Order: sequence, then structure tokens, then C-alpha cells
Amino acid sequence: MTEYIFILGKNWLLSIAEMIVYLRDQNLTAHVNDHSRNAAIVEIDERLSDSQVVEIQEALGGCFKIGRVITKYNRSVAERAFPKQGRPVKRYRTELMECPWTDRVWPSPKGKKVKFGVSTYPMLNVESTVSLKRLTLGLDEWAKRKLLARGARRAAYYIYEGPDTRKKERPNTALWPQTIARYNLLRPPNAEVLAVITEGNLYIGKTVVVYDSRLQQYRDESRPYISPKTSTSPKLCRTLLTLAGAKPGDTILDPFCGSGTLLMEAAILGMKCIGIDIDGDAVQGARLNLRWLSSDLGEKLDFRIIKGDTRRAMEVVGKAVDAIAFEPVLGPVYTKRPERKDAEESILELTKLYRDSLKGMEPCLRPDGRIAMTLPVINTTKGQVSVEFDQIIKGTDFEIIRFLPRKSIRTQSTDKQLVIRPERRTLPERKIGQAVERTVIMLGKR
Ligand SMILES: C[S@@+](CC[C@H](N)C(=O)[O-])C[C@H]1O[C@@H](n2cnc3c(N)ncnc32)[C@H](O)[C@@H]1O
Repeated sequence: MTEYIFILGKNWLLSIAEMIVYLRDQNLTAHVNDHSRNAAIVEIDERLSDSQVVEIQEALGGCFKIGRVITKYNRSVAERAFPKQGRPVKRYRTELMECPWTDRVWPSPKGKKVKFGVSTYPMLNVESTVSLKRLTLGLDEWAKRKLLARGARRAAYYIYEGPDTRKKERPNTALWPQTIARYNLLRPPNAEVLAVITEGNLYIGKTVVVYDSRLQQYRDESRPYISPKTSTSPKLCRTLLTLAGAKPGDTILDPFCGSGTLLMEAAILGMKCIGIDIDGDAVQGARLNLRWLSSDLGEKLDFRIIKGDTRRAMEVVGKAVDAIAFEPVLGPVYTKRPERKDAEESILELTKLYRDSLKGMEPCLRPDGRIAMTLPVINTTKGQVSVEFDQIIKGTDFEIIRFLPRKSIRTQSTDKQLVIRPERRTLPERKIGQAVERTVIMLGKR
């Protein structure tokens, strides 16, 4: 049994739900033992190889880094050693300064040149009781001293954006993925150390894998067809694919494929893709994007993009697929909050489209397959308006599959911003400040 640290995406609850779905689909028994807004501490009943961990991170849209837990302290140790306010208590500082974990991160540093960095993640995004900057700097300094004392030829630590020059402020306490990639900080003897603060503990871990943000940005910006107003983020696409249970080798369907972002992510993960869109320009654009991806990867990709109406998906596709994942039309693109009446009218229309489309998809999904989709939540001038789930599945073969099974969640929180309510029918996928937010649902056949 090993504990892992999963560094989560902005929608941390959705990230946790996605991770649980993925691990269960891999037949791994996993429990979330502790969490914060930034990280989940997950116990997995099997020791995973590094390449298995890499595969997990790649599949998950909501996971930036994965590491193994090395040790943990009571949170009060960090709080008293590095209080945000008041005087530090020497005894606790000494306890942290000993850094016994460096022996596990670097079993034999003698004679080696070591580059490393400590990334600290707070419980919430605004930390109140621990001085994160001083804690991070303290761990960096003490680990460096320990390494030199154990015979390392050189030990240099890096901060969020590069080598620490000690001249500037540290606005960020976590290393950026691009910094880790640029300076090869995961190649031994180099290492990234994770320090995660939760309500009760400070966890110290060693990173195994980090999300490749440079590759993602390159693909996002270089693909030939971009429709920024309606396209879905690649990370959300990966989350939808995971929730739909799509695996490498599977055939997946995106019945509202637009520019093909989800199909591209599926193809990168080794899936066969079918896309449908009612709009001829989108179909052409998605084809261009997939052809571009194929030549960029230097691989022949298995994809089919068809102009058609998802309400008659079986006529268009002609066969059953393993998984369906998509972001449908979410209604008008509002630049500011609409009137409630207008939003209600739009939701009524969308509800009918979603129901008719789900009906059309029924014969296209294998009996034990799953659907994952987003739905709009419109922030109006007078509160939120959203789709009734029961209305969209009414008269179809589908039922809602709940997120966050009770038995997978052991973490307990007294902070209301962090409480995990299990067995949820839907989870938010928010970008704060937008007129249209989204929720995510998972469906299966009854
Ligand atoms: C939100 S966009 C999808 C965005 C896509 N995931 C991407 O990243 O580009 C929704 C798409 O659904 C298409 N659409 C709307 N109604 C449809 C229908 N009845 N059948 C098929 N496609 C439809 C629209 O043309 C639009 O391209």
C-alpha cells in the first residue's frame, strides 16, 4: 500500500472525482485519505511503477503532478515553525530542519551535482496560518545543506520559474511544469519535492510525473482550425474521456465535435475517433485538425468526422461505440449576464435538443458503455438557471451515475470550503466570472 500525492486542477472536486473513476476502471482499489484544494492524498493498494504513474497522469485532465508520499508531519509543526503571524517555536523548526526525508529522495548523493526544487501547496488558495514562502525557502535551504553534508558535489535549488537568484520576491511557491521540464528537474539525481498542507497535516513527497504544459500549449496554438468562442479546453476533454471510461484502443464518439478538440485528445491517447457536427465548417475544421495532428505525431490516426445531426446519430455512425464524451452547444455566447427570462427560454430549447440527442445516441453506445457530458449553468441578472437532469434523460435508456462513491472517500474536513459531499449527481466545472458555467454529468444505460 502506498500513498500518492495528486496535484489537482482548478476544479479540484471534479479532479478528485475523475481520478477515482479512472483508478476504479483500472481495477485499482484507491481511497482518498486526505485532501486540500490543491492536492489529494490517495492510498492505492498496489505499488505502481513509475511508468504506470505516468500513464495515470496522462489520462487525467485534472491532474498536474503525481508524487509518492515520503513522510508526513502534523500540520501544527509547520504552523509553529513558520507562523504567518507571531514568533516561530524553535523546537518545531528543529524538527523540520532535520529533513530525514532527504535520504529517501536522494539515497546516494555523494559526488553528484543535484538540482532540485520544493513546491509547496496550501490547503486553500489563501493560506492563513503558515507562511508558505518561508516554509518553502526553509525546506529548500535545509535540503541543500543536508545534500552537501552527505557529500553531494553541488546542490542548487530552483524556484517557480528558474534557478533561485535570491534577488527577487517569490510570488509563487510551486514550480511551474515548464521550469521542471526546462531544467530536467525530474531526471535523477535531480528531484522535485512536494510539500502539501492539508487541514491536519504537512505531507512531503517526491514527484514522479508532471503535466507537459509546453506540448499542450504548442498543440493548442499550432492546430490549423481554432474556434475560441466555442471550443472546449483540452484538459476538460481528457476529463470527459476518463469519465466516459474511454481506454486506448476503444472507439469513442463526440456527437457535437466542433473543432475536434476532444477527438484530438482521444487520438493522442490511442483511441479511434468518430465525430459528428451539424455545421460543415466545423466538420472541415476538425478534419484539418486531426490531419495536422497525425502529421505532427508522425502516426496514422484512426478518425472519421461526419456532417450530420446527432439526433439521428445511429443513421450517421452506423455502429455502436465504446464510449461517448462531449460538450454540446451550451446556448448563446453571452458577453454579460442575460435576463432570467431569456436564459430560461434558451434552457428549454437546449433541454429538448439534449433529450433528442441522447435518444439518438442510445443505439450507438455499447450496453455497458458510459456517456460524459457538460451542461450549461447560466448566471442571469436574477440568479442561476440550469438544465433539469431528469428532463434530459426522460424517455431514454440512460440513468445518472453518481460521482464520488462514499466508500472511496475517507478524508474528513471541518472547513466548509473543503467538505466533500459523496454520491453527487453532478459536479461543477467553473471558470469564475463567466456568464455561462458548466456542470458535468456521467450517464450509463439502465
Ligand atoms: C460547444 S461546440 C463543441 C466544441 C468542441 N468540443 C470543440 O472543442 O471545438 C458544439 C458544437 O455542436 C454542434 N451542433 C449543434 N447542434 C448539433 C446537432 N444537432 N448535431 C450535431 N452537432 C450539433 C455545433 O455546430 C458546434 O460545433
